[in-house]
Amino acid sequence: MEGRKLKDMFGTESKPGAEAEEGRIKMSQAGPVTETSSQPQDVAASARRAKTLEAKEVNLYYGDFHAVENVNMTIEPNKVTALIGSSGCGKTTFLRSLNRMHELTPGATVKGSIKLDGEDVYANGVDPVAVRSLIGMVFQQPNPFPTMSIYDNVAAGLNFNARKTSKSQKDEVVERSLRGAHLWDEVKDRLQRPGSGLSGGQQQRLCIARAISVNPEVILMDEPCSALDPIATARIESLMDELKQNYCIVIVTHSMQQAARVSQLTAFFHMGFLVEEGDTTDVFTAR
Ligand SMILES: Nc1ncnc2c1ncn2[C@@H]1O[C@H](COP(=O)(O)OP(=O)(O)OP(=O)(O)O)[C@@H](O)[C@H]1O
Ligand SMILES: [Mg+2]
Repeated sequence: MEGRKLKDMFGTESKPGAEAEEGRIKMSQAGPVTETSSQPQDVAASARRAKTLEAKEVNLYYGDFHAVENVNMTIEPNKVTALIGSSGCGKTTFLRSLNRMHELTPGATVKGSIKLDGEDVYANGVDPVAVRSLIGMVFQQPNPFPTMSIYDNVAAGLNFNARKTSKSQKDEVVERSLRGAHLWDEVKDRLQRPGSGLSGGQQQRLCIARAISVNPEVILMDEPCSALDPIATARIESLMDELKQNYCIVIVTHSMQQAARVSQLTAFFHMGFLVEEGDTTDVFTAR
């Protein structure tokens, strides 16, 4: 993996859909542009190695306010990493810095580096939009595009492609993504109905399908179950367990039980500092 560039990261590794992804993130003379595959991606294919995310000396600010201080952390592939800690300690801020969403807040700044398999996502010339398709995000409140159908919600990422994706290719990606999110059987007969007409748990799985439709390496989830009932929560938790075979997952949760159930690694934040991290079993049993 060494020496590979973020902008051509997808072109060299043998993995599902790799041949379709060559040149997925490119630089043009006019500046960086994002291209997503023109071919369907095999999101439901057999296990692959996700990428390692490494945060080094990460400091995050809102204007003058220093919200996250000097965090060093390695987020390992094919594992679920839980970020825990009391309200306001910086979990969401840190999570959003991992895929360059922090900078979308006016006045917010980032110091330090975040590397995806050795490549700094904040390096000059790296397209933040491309970073966000490699490092997808699922939010606390399910946020399907309200006026779009279930089908179009999942296909939305593909619609941003520079290249055209054919209808049959889209159909395939939509089905595979919905199957990957354990939603297909519930919606296959109403794909043209609005995504906003689904239950909260279904909407969250729709958002997960949307995130995986563009074949990311990492999925960030900010309290994805906080608006869900226990049954919908259990479905998302079992889905996370399955998704980690193909993706690196980072989840923010307020529930220690959830962190213990779903994660292999836990990072404990307190007042902007990362104060403890390690194997979940060790973190929860340490005295
Ligand atoms: N847009 C913003 N502008 C200014 N300060 C902010 C902004 N967003 C968050 N903060 C501050 O940054 C700190 C960290 O907030 P953050 O949302 O990351 O906490 P959190 O750990 O996710 O909390 P919670 O568990 O309540 O979601 C808090 O002090 C918060 O008030
Ligand atoms: Mg938060």
